[in-house]
Amino acid sequence: MTLLSVDRLTVADSAGHVLVDDVSFEVAAGDRTGLIGESGSGKSLTALAVLGLLPRGLTATGAVSLAGADMIRAPRGHGDVAAVVFQEPLTALDPLMTAGRQIAGPIRRFRGLRGDALRGAVREALDAVRLTDTDRIARSYPHQLSGGQRQRVAIAMAIACRPKLLIADEPTTALDVTVQAEILDLLDRIVTENDTALLFITHDLPVAARVVRDTHVLQSGRIVESGPITSLVTAPRHPYTRTLVESARRFDAALERTGRD
Ligand SMILES: Nc1ncnc2c1ncn2[C@@H]1O[C@H](COP(=O)(O)OP(=O)(O)OP(=O)(O)O)[C@@H](O)[C@H]1O
Ligand SMILES: [Mg+2]
Repeated sequence: MTLLSVDRLTVADSAGHVLVDDVSFEVAAGDRTGLIGESGSGKSLTALAVLGLLPRGLTATGAVSLAGADMIRAPRGHGDVAAVVFQEPLTALDPLMTAGRQIAGPIRRFRGLRGDALRGAVREALDAVRLTDTDRIARSYPHQLSGGQRQRVAIAMAIACRPKLLIADEPTTALDVTVQAEILDLLDRIVTENDTALLFITHDLPVAARVVRDTHVLQSGRIVESGPITSLVTAPRHPYTRTLVESARRFDAALERTGRD
């Protein structure tokens, strides 16, 4: 079943500069799809257009259908169909609200739970993101948590409503490498356990290769290559994809050299 269909999406600013250019792709239930591209290639704007959350001053044309809803002409919010995790967890979190209350908000709104049932669901969400000491974390404000804990709380909020599609926009870029790996494993496990579709956005090919199956490569707002990530890595066709693969290889080789020293 097609969950998300993006058909010839174009996003332009008020001066007519085209920022996302004729982008088409689909995500079906349970898919794991990557959007890979360098900084400024239009990844986040594509995600925001999908969610009906484009900033003021930008206009989208084309068609975006999310679980049957027209996100361009009638963006009524993405409700409980899709949820998003951003690069910087602090953007998703309210600094004045405890983690527990923030996770409770969408559960109350979309699943209608109250009282003990609500508290139970919050604890379940914190367990699902493998946070230990859940009572303390639930009572903490964002500034009292580490970066990795904050991103886990943001993921708990995103998945608490059991979305069919999880959009993760550079979810590990702001974290240090060991925490990155843990969060990637966590996302991997969560989408598998809940059969959630994943749209994973990154500039980092090796990171994408850990979690996605199929991917689209964006350059200057256009999709230049699409396919299974394994074929893209082993036999990239487009010159830009080749440079992505080569720079990942060079980085790997450098790591190996330092490992031998
Ligand atoms: N609100 C805005 N108004 C005008 N231009 C914008 C706006 N937001 C983004 N852009 C421009 O649109 C282009 C694509 O931006 P986008 O945020 O989608 O890039 P990205 O691929 O997510 O990059 P990054 O990896 O750095 O997050 C960039 O050139 C950016 O400067
Ligand atoms: Mg971005």
